[in-house]
Amino acid sequence: MRFDLITLFPELFAPHLSVGVTRRAFESRQVDVQFWPLRDYAEDNYRRVDDRPYGGGPGMVMLVEPLERALAAVRVAREASGVDGGAPPQIIHFSPTGRTMDQALVRELAQGPGAVLLCGRYEGMDQRFLDRHVTLEVSLGDFVLSGGELPALALLDAVARLQPGVLNDAASHEQDSFSDGLLDCPHYSRPEVLQGLPGQTEPLPVPPVLLSGHHAQIARWRRERSLELTWRRRPELIEAARAAGQLSKKDEAFLKSLIE
Ligand SMILES: C[S@@+](CC[C@H](N)C(=O)[O-])C[C@H]1O[C@@H](n2cnc3c(N)ncnc32)[C@H](O)[C@@H]1O
Repeated sequence: MRFDLITLFPELFAPHLSVGVTRRAFESRQVDVQFWPLRDYAEDNYRRVDDRPYGGGPGMVMLVEPLERALAAVRVAREASGVDGGAPPQIIHFSPTGRTMDQALVRELAQGPGAVLLCGRYEGMDQRFLDRHVTLEVSLGDFVLSGGELPALALLDAVARLQPGVLNDAASHEQDSFSDGLLDCPHYSRPEVLQGLPGQTEPLPVPPVLLSGHHAQIARWRRERSLELTWRRRPELIEAARAAGQLSKKDEAFLKSLIE
């Protein structure tokens, strides 16, 4: 799969793409990431890519023409690579006005040929360019960042960790939050009992079931913690799991016990 990024700041990506487990996916080009620095597509001496908004007001707007030239170059490169199999590429624009990024979207993208990612800056891109090309608008959440580069990194990271062979333990992402519709359970490691921490008078033991070696009981305990956390923090996810038939009779009985 291949992601082509149109951005004013390609240098923001290198530090993140070269560390951690996801590095393998990027270095091996399992997830091929190509950058298209927008200023390279400006045609005046000042390499101008933005101008004042019509109608007045604060900020600057990203100009259509450099964006059109950059995207045309991306389209040619993607077509030559054959990655989209003759279909038009998905063109994703990061914007606070878009669909909130979630694991369902990440999963969908992780199974596809990749996409073109448009990273806005300033007040954003001229709407005429967006109207002509964008197939999906994606938001990182209900807040405003200074650019689309962080959302692009978030998407690349989330997609890369779903690629086969990227995580050390292939089952690891299957236990993550949202993969089965619920939030993840809590995790514990050594020591078995924590003592002597500043401000901590009582010892803090690991939940005993996790030391029992009883796999079925451990799995049940984790499932219940997961159900409980989801019920408390994101009750709408419980409803969605129920509607999707993902809750067993045991799950329902446990949820009922929480209400009583
Ligand atoms: C300062 S923002 C522009 C915000 C825009 N005027 C608005 O209020 O919707 C500059 C760029 O950052 C990116 N951006 C900011 N917040 C974002 C978010 N929550 N999700 C995705 N992209 C975001 C977008 O690409 C946007 O064009």
